[in-house]
Amino acid sequence: MCGIVGYIGNRDAFPILIKGLQRLEYRGYDSAGVAMISPEGNLNVYKKKGKVSDLLDSCKDKDKSGNIGIGHTRWATHGEPNDVNSHPHYSQTKDLVIIHNGIIENYASIKEGLQKRGHTFLSETDTEVLIHLIEDIRKHEPEMKLGHAVMAALNQVNGAYAIVILDKNDRDTLIAAKKGSPMVIGVGKDEYFIASDASPIVEYTKNVVYIEDEHVAIIRRGEELKIRTIRDKEITPYVQELEMELEAIEKGGYDHFMLKEIYEQPRSIFDSMRGRLNSETGHLKMGGIEEHEGKFKNAKRIIVIACGTSWHAGMVAEYLFEEYARIPVEVEYASEFRYRNPIIYPDDIVIAISQSGETADTLAAIELAKTKGATIFGVCNVVGSSIARATHAGSYTHAGPEIGVASTKAFTAQVTVLTLMALHVAKVKGAIAESRYRQLLYEMESIPAKVEEVLKLNDSIKKIAAEYKDAANALYLGRGYSFPVALEGALKLKEISYIHAEGYPAAEMKHGPIALIDEAMPVFVIATKGPNYEKVVSNIQEVKARKGRIIAIVTAGDVEVKKMAEHVIEIPETDESLVPLVSVIPWQLLSYHIAVMRGCNVDQPRNLAKSVTVE
Ligand code: M6R
Repeated sequence: MCGIVGYIGNRDAFPILIKGLQRLEYRGYDSAGVAMISPEGNLNVYKKKGKVSDLLDSCKDKDKSGNIGIGHTRWATHGEPNDVNSHPHYSQTKDLVIIHNGIIENYASIKEGLQKRGHTFLSETDTEVLIHLIEDIRKHEPEMKLGHAVMAALNQVNGAYAIVILDKNDRDTLIAAKKGSPMVIGVGKDEYFIASDASPIVEYTKNVVYIEDEHVAIIRRGEELKIRTIRDKEITPYVQELEMELEAIEKGGYDHFMLKEIYEQPRSIFDSMRGRLNSETGHLKMGGIEEHEGKFKNAKRIIVIACGTSWHAGMVAEYLFEEYARIPVEVEYASEFRYRNPIIYPDDIVIAISQSGETADTLAAIELAKTKGATIFGVCNVVGSSIARATHAGSYTHAGPEIGVASTKAFTAQVTVLTLMALHVAKVKGAIAESRYRQLLYEMESIPAKVEEVLKLNDSIKKIAAEYKDAANALYLGRGYSFPVALEGALKLKEISYIHAEGYPAAEMKHGPIALIDEAMPVFVIATKGPNYEKVVSNIQEVKARKGRIIAIVTAGDVEVKKMAEHVIEIPETDESLVPLVSVIPWQLLSYHIAVMRGCNVDQPRNLAKSVTVE
């Protein structure tokens, strides 16, 4: 969580920092702050509880000059969101300021030691402790350069950090370092940009250096970028070209990123299949799997680890791998798995799914599985992310940047890639009939067009949203492949509209949730044609008998459910196993419209952040 930015060069730093923070606001928006050194040598720090726009209002009449600066947008961990706990934080003398993304786990004991040495603290944050420690180290060794003091301090801390430090007495240097939290440095002509991801950098330069864990960057005006480990070993920076276009991170005429990303799905699903699937030849090319084909072929078990929406994609994968490839699958919440002393065998395949590739729990679960000798396969969206780098092999989802906090196109891209993986493994194992395999490849190719069809239903879905926008609760039901979609529908609604919603396997309803049903309860059901259809129709009848209100996703042409439901949303027919790719779209649109109608901040829902880099 938290977004960090930094700039050193010949331009005015403030507008670059602000624009960068606005791009990173999806990472956290409890407070924002900046620090610049003016040409007269003043260190000006402005910080404010709330959004970047609040910060802008609060400092509009202040001196914001300077061509070196740092900025931060916060998702609070230590200390409530208020002005004082906002970053940047000062050292004891106020000569140094720091911004930080991550958590210093042993900050309390360090703080105690510093307090005994006369340090006083303004905030409740772990970050302030770190900058005091750095200054304290320098105080005892006045000749030590700031970069070395930072290294010395980082050798004393446990936890995760991406930090940038500014020294009032040195207008030509920024010191940055990272461990466990992402950081990228843009290398321009006589200027450098620092950010949590490349989105604040892409419009200035395409040359970037991804900073590795426990590396410290010494960024000096007019000099080459220098990188050292925290143990003071020199590293040669690896400059690579950014594969990101500016348009991909802008709203492109849509009111919200979430809506844009929902509409991008025909394209993003296509992109996640591009170069991998050829239905004419029956060929599937999944580079990562080919490298470990033997392991997949002989795997007795697949363990999926993920969080949130990615976990729901993992649930779909469970059905896919079991049906196509006949491999047992366990789907685990990474946050539970990592602390459970799980039984993992060296011949297990672990699939880690993550849009951001930075989720702390997923990363920790991967490290745990690695120690047991399992093969770890990543399904990530963000290229070069920590999870992508921590895994033995993987397949990127190629969905493009997802900025809305509510995951939409990442889900369908993940399910697409997981479907291709399951098919590939099934084929290699000989677990699937050739005719079925071919039929599924053809059907996969038709999914983008089918999603396009569903998007045309936006206006009617908006009308349904208007009818249910004031509901206090909602139930989402589905069976088989549609059960994970029910979970995903409920998550979408609750996270952006703050309506309490639960997803349930339709048949499980009678074991408890049915008690909730009355005339005020909207029940969103997936009742598409397939092996479970009749069963779901019975479940719908059970809801109707208790006066619940049914909104059903059905296969085009359905008549039976239409007779019972308040509303039906007709989606094009597809193979049962591919229905999630199509049926999730109406639930995404419905949540979006309900949230907008309720006046919620769709792209930045309260208390959330896009990538959860803390446990
Ligand atoms: O980046 P990841 O896929 O690892 O993120 C996992 C979850 O934090 C994420 O899916 C979250 O649940 C979204 N807000 C859901 O819309």
